[in-house]
Amino acid sequence: MANRIHPSILNANLAGIDGELARIPSAHGIHVDVMDNHFVPNLTLGLPVVESIRANHPELFLDIHLMIEEADRWAPGYAEAGCESVTFHLEASAAPIRTARQIRQLGARAAIALRPQTPVEPLADLLTEFDMVLVMTVDPGFGGQSFLDNQLGKIRRTRELVRASGQEIWIQVDGGVSESTIERCVDAGAEVFVAGSAVFRADDPDAMVRHLTEIADA
Ligand code: DX5
Ligand code: ZN
Repeated sequence: MANRIHPSILNANLAGIDGELARIPSAHGIHVDVMDNHFVPNLTLGLPVVESIRANHPELFLDIHLMIEEADRWAPGYAEAGCESVTFHLEASAAPIRTARQIRQLGARAAIALRPQTPVEPLADLLTEFDMVLVMTVDPGFGGQSFLDNQLGKIRRTRELVRASGQEIWIQVDGGVSESTIERCVDAGAEVFVAGSAVFRADDPDAMVRHLTEIADA
């Protein structure tokens, strides 16, 4: 699979999302962080805003990252809204297999996220229920944090589990991804890169997206 850069709009101007998206035409998808102030100590946006983005940008690959409690209750709604990929946290789900199957039945890719302290090994037997595994490289909740090098081993182990599964399951990294950390993630086996502050704090966000793509593809 080709590498993908999905800028996170968390640190963009959320009151002017259309204008922000126009600044990154080279992005392969948009990463939308949904936070509920319970699973993480921050509050962002929910389904009505995602539905509005969908309506204004029918061609965008919408990559939704749910950092919310009761993921089983809310995740399928984002698939129903026409998002291409819906990620929920293993730590917030009582029935990850059922929820993944619902997401897939509604036509979206189902993805599972792991906080830094959550090992990937418990996923081994349910891996094929998912189209993507998100390895968090910061504690979820905020943009602009430093990349956690100690997650590289988990990315490698995830790559081994994916290989053993024989399925094409994407591996995504999220948190502190920048021009100085992306190479380590590529080497460890990731192929979908979320970058928030690195892109939106750059003078030319689209040039940064292209730069990150070049580094990943090198
Ligand atoms: C953090 C979010 C990330 C965040 C990444 O909990 O899941 O998607 O926006 O921001 P940066 O790239 O600045 O670490
Ligand atoms: Zn995220």
